[in-house]
Amino acid sequence: MNLPDSKHRLRGRLLTALLFAAGVAAGSADTPTLKDAYQKHFPVGVAVNRSIVSGTPSFRRSAELVSSDRALTQTQFNQITAENDMKWQLIHPREGADGYDFGPADAFVSFGLGNRMEIVGHTLVWHSQTPNWVFAGTNPPPVVTNAPPVAAAGTNALGTNRVGRGPGPAFGGGFGRYDGPRASREELLQRMRDHIHTVVGRYKGKVKVWDVVNEALSDGATTNVLRSSLWSEIIGPDFVAKAFQFAHEADPDAILRYNDYGLENPVKRRKLATLIRELQAQKVPVHAIGSQAHLNVATSFETMDQALTEMKTLGLPIHITELDVNSAQGGQRGTGADVAANAATTQGGLVSDADRKLADAYAGVFRAFVKHRDCVKLVTFWGVNDAVSWRANGSPLLFDGNNHPKPAFESVVGVGTADPPKLP
Ligand code: GLA
Repeated sequence: MNLPDSKHRLRGRLLTALLFAAGVAAGSADTPTLKDAYQKHFPVGVAVNRSIVSGTPSFRRSAELVSSDRALTQTQFNQITAENDMKWQLIHPREGADGYDFGPADAFVSFGLGNRMEIVGHTLVWHSQTPNWVFAGTNPPPVVTNAPPVAAAGTNALGTNRVGRGPGPAFGGGFGRYDGPRASREELLQRMRDHIHTVVGRYKGKVKVWDVVNEALSDGATTNVLRSSLWSEIIGPDFVAKAFQFAHEADPDAILRYNDYGLENPVKRRKLATLIRELQAQKVPVHAIGSQAHLNVATSFETMDQALTEMKTLGLPIHITELDVNSAQGGQRGTGADVAANAATTQGGLVSDADRKLADAYAGVFRAFVKHRDCVKLVTFWGVNDAVSWRANGSPLLFDGNNHPKPAFESVVGVGTADPPKLP
């Protein structure tokens, strides 16, 4: 990925100075920005919402706060990911060639290009936030009984691993997922191909990196590599390979990522290795591993160091794609990304001495990223500040709701500007 040139850096410094004068930016004009602190190592990005891109107020942010969020994004980061606007549910809500709503995604891409940021597309194939029509057809759904289900090799058993993602019955993932008559394998493959060709084709040459498949791996102790989803049940386990092939056809120059959460967990990591090795053996164009890294304050340098050391053996660049560090007491047991379970992970108030623990955890994981800078090629935060985070109650980011830097900001900048250790 390209690093910003000096003119761009100067612009960043000026913006920082202006924001500092207005009392809304990080530290002082002398404190390096995140993107400058890491310019020798990797770009530092952020997931942005529609308000930030368009500059319009929302139910949770006034016009003044939105312009401060937007300025902070421009000042601190040199890569952006759309938090929601490229998900199937939003970009392609209805069937057919007229079923696309490109406006918000177009605005996101223009914002990135206008600010000379790298742009990541998120996400093409996912079991969550996908409309029901995608899976609907005329084949009766399988009858789920209490008898032990029969699973295809390499996939989860039918009827397991269903609880999870998705905001409710209208979407194809998680509990309440679509359970009506289904499309055939051929129909669903055709819809997937059309969607990927249209979306990737539209932003060809502008969006350099795509999350092609999101969260296909199973959780927990099951030995099945893939979770059971409407994608895996209707198409079969090769839906993953097909998605990558379609994306590669649509833009042969794009970097295609497999993205998942919980890769700090050795059991999930073994499943990742199995999946990636299988794809590589079949010459599927998978170019990078996206590790979401929804962490908690108990995550240490050692945990991240171990995770990166092992993931590196797959021979692919690693992108940290959705970084946040949950400080809520309820979020200290796992590193999942489950939307349905999210409320529980942000309950119980903050852990004691939360600011300091957050700063220490961020310092530890960034030390690991820098140690493995030969393979860590991008780090993206999942949100600009605590107020707009999906885990707002867990105060997981570097800036508070007024965009004031927290101690964690200083510790991350400190790691970036220190002399890096020798490469392992
Ligand atoms: C996952 C997805 C993201 C987002 C977060 C929660 O990690 O990949 O798009 O939905 O969950 O906000």
